[in-house]
Formats: sequence, structure tokens, C-alpha cells
Amino acid sequence: MKNPPHLDATSFVLFGGTGDLAMRKILPALYEAEMCNRLPSELRILIVARKFDVRTQLIDWLNDCVRNHVAHERFEAAAWKRFIERVEYVRLDFSQAKDFPALRDALGEQSGQTIFYLATGPALFVPICRALAAVGLNRKARIVLEKPLGYDSRSSHEINDQVSEIFAENQIYRIDHYLGKESVQNLLALRFGNTLFEPLWRREWVESVQITIAEELGVEGRGEFYDSIGALRDMVQNHLLQLLSIIAMEPPHSMDADAVRDEKLRVLRALKPVPVNDVDSIAVRGQYNRGVIRSSPVPAYAEEAGIPRASMTETFVALQVEVENWRWAGVPFFLRTGKRLADRVAEIVITFQAVPHSALGSESVRSGSNRLVIRLQPNEEIRLYCLAKRPGEGMTLQPVHLNIDFDRFFAPDRMDAYQRLLIDVIHGRLALFVRRDEQEAAWRWVEPILNEWSIRNKPPRPYVAGSWGPAASSAMLARAGTCWFEEEN
Ligand code: BG6
Repeated sequence: MKNPPHLDATSFVLFGGTGDLAMRKILPALYEAEMCNRLPSELRILIVARKFDVRTQLIDWLNDCVRNHVAHERFEAAAWKRFIERVEYVRLDFSQAKDFPALRDALGEQSGQTIFYLATGPALFVPICRALAAVGLNRKARIVLEKPLGYDSRSSHEINDQVSEIFAENQIYRIDHYLGKESVQNLLALRFGNTLFEPLWRREWVESVQITIAEELGVEGRGEFYDSIGALRDMVQNHLLQLLSIIAMEPPHSMDADAVRDEKLRVLRALKPVPVNDVDSIAVRGQYNRGVIRSSPVPAYAEEAGIPRASMTETFVALQVEVENWRWAGVPFFLRTGKRLADRVAEIVITFQAVPHSALGSESVRSGSNRLVIRLQPNEEIRLYCLAKRPGEGMTLQPVHLNIDFDRFFAPDRMDAYQRLLIDVIHGRLALFVRRDEQEAAWRWVEPILNEWSIRNKPPRPYVAGSWGPAASSAMLARAGTCWFEEEN
């Protein structure tokens, strides 16, 4: 089933439109796109739900949700008026196939593509796709699937198999919102738009790579859901492995969706298999205890709403990964993510080899003298650390850095990740969406870790909320002769 990828969508149908994700991310992003005149003029937005009796109630709720989730100065009466003119309310129960003819009627004759955005639990993905197909709505359509897509290899495979009976791969947009972040796009620009870094981007010059996504937040009302998945499924299988594949991939011949995704897939397939009898040597799992975040006390994970007191779910993971190919063999990639950590930061640290000979004194052969630190959030900047001579007598070296602050260069043009991805779906651009084989390769790699953890049934290591995770995470790097970036500063 081929689907012309380039045609703009004329309808955007949101399932789960009154849920948490829609409220916090999708609807505010659509409104912001409206405000910046990025939505095609003919685009209709259909919100499918049962929560409200009539459209006016939906619009009141939508007003609150947009006002609460976009910056105050970005709420403009004129944009809001244009936005709500597009919004239609389709009141039906999307868990019931018998309700779908009403959706078909509401859509009417379609001139362009229809987007079906499934901001629902994964259990509803297949039933919704089948119900759409039963009323002929799978043609001229794009389907957007939110993570988590499955719980493990088998379940993600099953969902993909069943969805692919109804939609062709080029109709399926699997969202990983990290790929929509401007800063992640910038990684591609940095690597493939400059001659400066690419020659050094390999094992001969790189000593190690660290990728951290740290959060200060806890489980934020998602306790029950989070407890069933944990940090490895929530953040590593998708966001962290996607970042790793962008850092480690070979230059694609173009930015065409499949050219980029082929290269990312090669990296995922080249990940060194997990040593199943010795998972602890490459993986640390932790769970937060009580602590203090920004001077306020916070409860332990096991005390949060919806979490069983004896929960063994991890809220922190650190991993040592290797990419077994010609470019990266032997270079450790350290990945780390956690909730209730000391800071909210997403950062990539590339540490280059020390100089081979100490003509300038012993300090010049210091490991970590040359580093590229790519900060993705909260602010976006790139710092290049080098050694320079401290003014005065003698040759004393001191680290200094060059700083590119993207927020200062480009502030007015920045686009939120969801907005960018929604615009890409509307225009039929697939490059920033995860292809089935990538997703399955990522599951295949993380699954032995999950299996080992489940067989051994050992509780995660406790860490104090507001710290950088369990001590075992630092010990893993110490064994490799290095330390986390913040431990040096
Ligand atoms: C989501 C996870 O995918 O990413 C959340 O499910 C996490 O648990 C969030 O908080 C982090 O995203 P961001 O963009 O705030 O770093």
C-alpha cells in the first residue's frame, strides 16, 4: 500500500485528545504552530473523546489547557480565534469499533491526507487501527503512534505486525520526541555541516562518550504507569539509544528519511551484546529514596502515589555500551538517566584522547583536556574545552572553553519538539520518526538486561533524591579509568 508521502494533511484526528499528553504537549504545540502560522490553512482538527457533552465545554477546557501550557505572552486572541475555528469535537467511544462510522461521517469526503494521532495506551493501538480500516479510513492516512510501543521485543513486534497489516511503513510515524528537539537536529548539523569535528569523530581521537538525560522531576502523577515500565523502557530503549545512534552513525548520503534511518539502524545493530552472565559490569539500576530537590524535601519513590511500597522498579539506569564497528571499537559510551537527580540536564560529553607527548609539561597529557560538551537542555550550547597557558611566568596550563550559546543566536526561531514533529507529520516528512527496524533493534539490545534483572530479582540500588544516582554508577566509570563529567568540575 503506497501512500504519497509529500501531500499535506487536511485533517488531524486526535484520539486520547483529553488525556494528559494531549493536554500538556500535543494541543499546546498545535496552538503554537497556529500562532506562528505554520498550520496549513485548510487543516481541520478533530478531537475524539467522550468526556464532554458538547463542543463548547471542550473549547473551555482547551482554553485552560493551552493557557496553562504555553508562555503567557504567547497566548494571542487572534491566534486562539483562528485555532478554535479549526477544532471539531467528535463524541464517541474509540474503544468501540461500532462508533467509527460516526468518525467517518464527521470527516466526510477527504481531499488530502488524514492524520490519526493515537495518544492512547498501546493496548488500544491495534483495535483503533482495525476499526479505522473497517470503515475505510486507513487509505490516504498517516498514523502517529506514541511510545511506549510495546513492553518488550515480542509485544512491540506484535503491535508492529498488526498495525502493518493496515498501514504501510511509510504511513506510520512512531514518535520519539527527543528526535524533534532542535538541539538533536543541531547534532546532525554539527557533525555533517562542518569539517572541523568529523575527522576527529572516531576511535583514534575519542577516548569516551557520555550521554546523560537527568531529571529533577519524580513520577508526576504517572506512578502506576511508570512502575510497570521503569527507566530502561521509559528512556533508554528510545531516547538514549536514539541519541547514541545519532552520535555514532556514519554520514548519510542525504537527509532523506531512509538514508538517515539506515545509518542509525547500523549503529543499533552494532551494539556489543550484553554479557548476560555479568550484566552488573555494564549496567547499574537505582531507585530514589527521600531527599531534597531545590531546597524542598521530596518523598522516596516507594512513597509516591500509585507505587507499591516494595516496588523494585528502577528510576535510574547507567550503562556502559560499545559500538562494535571500525569507527568506534573499544570506545566506551556511558549512558545515564534518572528521575529526582541533582539537576535537569541532557548533555553529551565527548572526551578526546590526551596529547601523545608532554612537551608542555605533565599537565598537557591530562585526560579530558579536550572535550566537546553538547548541552541539549535546559539550555542549548556547545562548549569546546581546551588547555591554555595561564598568564604569567612559566608554562602553567589551565582549561578554558569556547562557548556557542544557541539560545542567544537563535532565540526567536526556536520550535518545541512536539510542534516540529506535528508539522513534519502534516507535511509527510518521516526522517524524525523511528522506523520499525530501528525500534526492534533497540528492543533486542535492551531485552537481555531486562531479562537478567527480572531473573535475579535483586532490588535496585537506593540513591538519595537530589544526588547523581547510586555510587555504583561512578564506580562503573572508575573501573574504566574515568568519571562522570560533573565529578571533575
Ligand atoms: C518521556 C518519558 O518520554 O520523556 C518521561 O516518558 C520523561 O518519563 C520525559 O519525563 C522527558 O522528556 P523531556 O523532554 O522533558 O526531557
